[in-house]
Amino acid sequence: MRKHVKGNVSWVGYLDWELDRFHGDDYSILNGSSQNAYLIEEEKTVLVDTVWTPHRFDFIENLKSEIDLNKIDFIVMNHGECDHSGSLTALLDEIPNTPIYCTANAVKSIEGQYGKHNWNFHVVKTGDSIDIGNGKELIFVEMRMLHWPDSMATFLTGDNILFSMDAFGQHYAVEELFNDKADQCVLNKEAMKYFANILNPFAPILTKKLEELGKLNLPIEMIAPAHGAIWREDPLQIVNKYATWAKAYQEDQITIVYDTMWEGTTKIAHKIADEIHMQSPDTVVKVFNIAKSDKNEVMTEIFKSRAIAVGSPTVSSSILSSVAGFLEFLKQLKFKNKKAAAFGCYGWSGESVKILKAKLSEAGFEVVDGDVRSLWNPDEMDFAKIPELVSELLAGEAPQVKKEVKSSAPKYVCTVCGYVYDPAQGDPDHGIAAGTSFENLPEDWACPICGVGKDQFEQA
Ligand code: FEO
Repeated sequence: MRKHVKGNVSWVGYLDWELDRFHGDDYSILNGSSQNAYLIEEEKTVLVDTVWTPHRFDFIENLKSEIDLNKIDFIVMNHGECDHSGSLTALLDEIPNTPIYCTANAVKSIEGQYGKHNWNFHVVKTGDSIDIGNGKELIFVEMRMLHWPDSMATFLTGDNILFSMDAFGQHYAVEELFNDKADQCVLNKEAMKYFANILNPFAPILTKKLEELGKLNLPIEMIAPAHGAIWREDPLQIVNKYATWAKAYQEDQITIVYDTMWEGTTKIAHKIADEIHMQSPDTVVKVFNIAKSDKNEVMTEIFKSRAIAVGSPTVSSSILSSVAGFLEFLKQLKFKNKKAAAFGCYGWSGESVKILKAKLSEAGFEVVDGDVRSLWNPDEMDFAKIPELVSELLAGEAPQVKKEVKSSAPKYVCTVCGYVYDPAQGDPDHGIAAGTSFENLPEDWACPICGVGKDQFEQA
């Protein structure tokens, strides 16, 4: 069944009420999801994206019930990930040679996943357009690394709809299709969860892309992402939220994450929570045993936080595997401008707090000096260290982004993902000081976004 979106545009995607995990098991789905595909029927008929492989036959049968597939003049593939390209093979079995408009990187990702079949690709880049008749055009905007090198958005003139692909999406099943019909709490929470867990590592690129989008002066009246609700009412609200979220977002919140063996570390976690409330009653405090919590929900809470405290007992001269896995994920997400503290119990060697501090620092957090290391079970002497630790977490304003250093050295751009190395900024997350020219970067330096080497860069 199609659903009317606007003008001659219909939604023909898959509403996935049953989905409970995404990206393998790496992303939890609590409110269903959708893979949004759209059909534009002007003088030309255009299909924008498809749906995930398991639903390909349902998708094609549904399309067939709406139109003769041979009427499809073009397919636009905004992104090659299989939740959107997964029906292409089956679809092109039905309508071979149909032109596919996508980026050069999408050709690579689609052929990489499905093999080379001499499909009729038409490579596009930002600013390219195609006339679809009735005075309307599709204008393409590359969205490299939001969140794959192949990502792209497509703007439909006349109806002024931005098909934004993953950007501005949510894993949220909305039968009624539009943001104004959705539960606003769930919508905003799912949009933030999507940003925190998938897009945050690319926040610097996102900021630049939003500026670039703004300069295109597209009169956006609707944003139709590839997942979740379509932004019909006040569509730019989500663009403005992204602009805020991409700049080291934080609220007045501290999140405590721990695991425990015999409840000693739990006691410290709860005492820290009590102390935060005592010292700063307005600060929101959340406490999670990471072994029993949904890691994506926890990361969303950390995204909102100005500081975190992480606890683990010492086990085999290290930390619990639940906390270690959490810290690895935390590092991937590249949160900025947040403080962190560490705590934990031990029986003899007691390395956990030192390890936690090192990993938190590696993950980009400003680690405070205070900590709580408790031999066997925490006692009053251990608890006495908590007020100082909490005041350090609460002290002053959250760390500010470092000031720009002026440099006349040229910028270099990554040809794979579009990241720009700016000597004035350096790459402080990887030990490269502001003021370091591209030529003086170590030979093993890699693009902080997509990981390719210096040889894949060219002068901007
Ligand atoms: Fe929804 Fe990047 O795929």
